[in-house]
Amino acid sequence: MEIQWFPGHMAKAKRILKEDLKLVDVIIEVVDARIPYSSRNPDLMGMIGNKPLLVILNKADLSDPDYNNQWENYFKSKKLEAIAVDSVHGVGISKIVPAVKKLVGNKTISLGSSGRLPRAPRCMIVGIPNVGKSYLINRLSGRKSAKAENKPGVTKGQQWIRVADIELLDTPGILWPKFEDSDVGYRLAVTGAVKEQVYDLEFVAGRLSLWLAKYYPSRLKDRFNLDSEGISEPQSLLEMIGKNRGFIVQGGKVDIYKAAVLLLKEFRGGILGRYTLERPPGK
Ligand code: G4P
Repeated sequence: MEIQWFPGHMAKAKRILKEDLKLVDVIIEVVDARIPYSSRNPDLMGMIGNKPLLVILNKADLSDPDYNNQWENYFKSKKLEAIAVDSVHGVGISKIVPAVKKLVGNKTISLGSSGRLPRAPRCMIVGIPNVGKSYLINRLSGRKSAKAENKPGVTKGQQWIRVADIELLDTPGILWPKFEDSDVGYRLAVTGAVKEQVYDLEFVAGRLSLWLAKYYPSRLKDRFNLDSEGISEPQSLLEMIGKNRGFIVQGGKVDIYKAAVLLLKEFRGGILGRYTLERPPGK
């Protein structure tokens, strides 16, 4: 379920998160590996204080493997541990528990003689809606249970789940995305992180078609037999895609909307290939 981020929701989510953060030793932030910048929460780093953070680049099966490496290295250069993961098929999952233990190990040493009893490290998963938090929790815990609701405030009745020798909160922390930047909005829309009622589907698909024509023209050629050279109008690209699929309406016109839906569906499902829409800074 998708939420509308009204200021009240954000304030509530922030309040709840602050309470939950007190319970854990490590925070696991899930981001979408296709948009590691846009799918990060703007305020999280400021809220976690000194607690260690592990970044999970989820949906790594959909993103460009070269850029997965580059993003992992980028986060490492910022002193943040990062792991590329595919939560649907379980790839990369086995690296998470050792990484959490390593992060806590560092902390324990720095705590010195604080007198805390040794216990299993506790962590919680946080992230904006649709990045795959529920899939990751289910993967880690081996459970098949339903999706956690994308609503701030569903922390009642939380439980700890034992995952190897760490403990994980069974409900993820829901974070709000960056709203102000229209490029971020576009990337959240194109990857399916925001629901379709809140953006112009043809505009988003058109912008995507231009990006593909610029950087990956051969994929458009292979998939839609589309020769995009010299075409700079998104409408024309969508029209050619629609024509290729036979989306013709009365009067022989192409159904652009249908072409837009198809392009977004194929892009999001990885049918068009693996893409990373954002490069690490300086790359
Ligand atoms: P959330 O809790 O953060 O809101 O996200 P959730 O786990 O519900 O996952 C959101 C969507 O992302 C789901 O697709 C899920 O299948 C997909 N997903 C999660 N992790 C991965 C991954 O590592 N790789 C790929 N390819 N997809 C992933 P959906 O279409 O919304 O729902 P569903 O019908 O597939 O469950």
